[in-house]
Amino acid sequence: MSAQIIDGKQIAASVRGEWKLRAEKLIQSGTTPGLAVIIVGDNPASSIYVRNKVRACSEIGIFSEVHSFPQDAQQQEVLDCIHALNENTHIHGILVQLPLPPHFENNRVITSIAVEKDVDGFHLYNIGALVTGNAHFLPCTPYGVMVMLERHQISIEGQHAVVVGRSNIVGKPMALMLLERGATVTVCTSRTRDLSQFTKQADILIVATGKPRLITAAMVKPGVTVIDVGINRSADGTLCGDVDFEPVKEIAGYITPVPGGVGPMTITMLLCNTILAAERAHAGVNSEFNQDNF
Ligand code: GUN
Repeated sequence: MSAQIIDGKQIAASVRGEWKLRAEKLIQSGTTPGLAVIIVGDNPASSIYVRNKVRACSEIGIFSEVHSFPQDAQQQEVLDCIHALNENTHIHGILVQLPLPPHFENNRVITSIAVEKDVDGFHLYNIGALVTGNAHFLPCTPYGVMVMLERHQISIEGQHAVVVGRSNIVGKPMALMLLERGATVTVCTSRTRDLSQFTKQADILIVATGKPRLITAAMVKPGVTVIDVGINRSADGTLCGDVDFEPVKEIAGYITPVPGGVGPMTITMLLCNTILAAERAHAGVNSEFNQDNF
């Protein structure tokens, strides 16, 4: 039997509907959630992501502003901008679009964001909080995956989750979130020797490698839940994931399509994190974070 499709567009729409109500409540009580996006250089993919983020913000009632810097900007200019945004009470979330140009130090820039405004969850403090099971903001893509699993009531505790990919943005935080929920987690990379030996054991298989159709039907066990985080352009110009969708769909229990799977969830969770940040600021619960401590 063919797998049940996990429809990211539908789940994203439903999550946005719920959070729009929270944003409206906040606005009525005097706080409009605000997001600042910083982009350095003119990476075409980054420009599209930023445009989509700005549009999604306006649809849900979040105020947003974009701070654009040229490719040859000095790191200090960007740090100065972040410091000003840290102090700006209209801004509750700050996001630095990655990748940054090679002459930038990623950790230096991201760690200059106030912890309580780090809606990407990439600040070293927030990563440490996630590792120790006290997450303050969950990184958006793996957070979106967890919501997809929850909405389909796919059990996690005691299951064997195999994550293929070890990026800081997806693979590593994904593994930590699944571990926190009681899964037995194996982390592989696209170069893992005899990768299929691991993927065949997965009850939940999450793939985030950027390698088109890396996972074939011969590499999965019947009934597995397959979450494809990859988004690649094939030679013929169409989009494809890291999973060979059509044949794998015939074996899996659940599967996400590309496009229309994980993609729509990432921006959605950014909106949620920004509204959450604004709710916390409104309630005055951020005093525990003193930037001087980090
Ligand atoms: N570049 C690719 N994905 C992301 C993301 O989730 N956040 C940021 N800031 N940059 C990215």
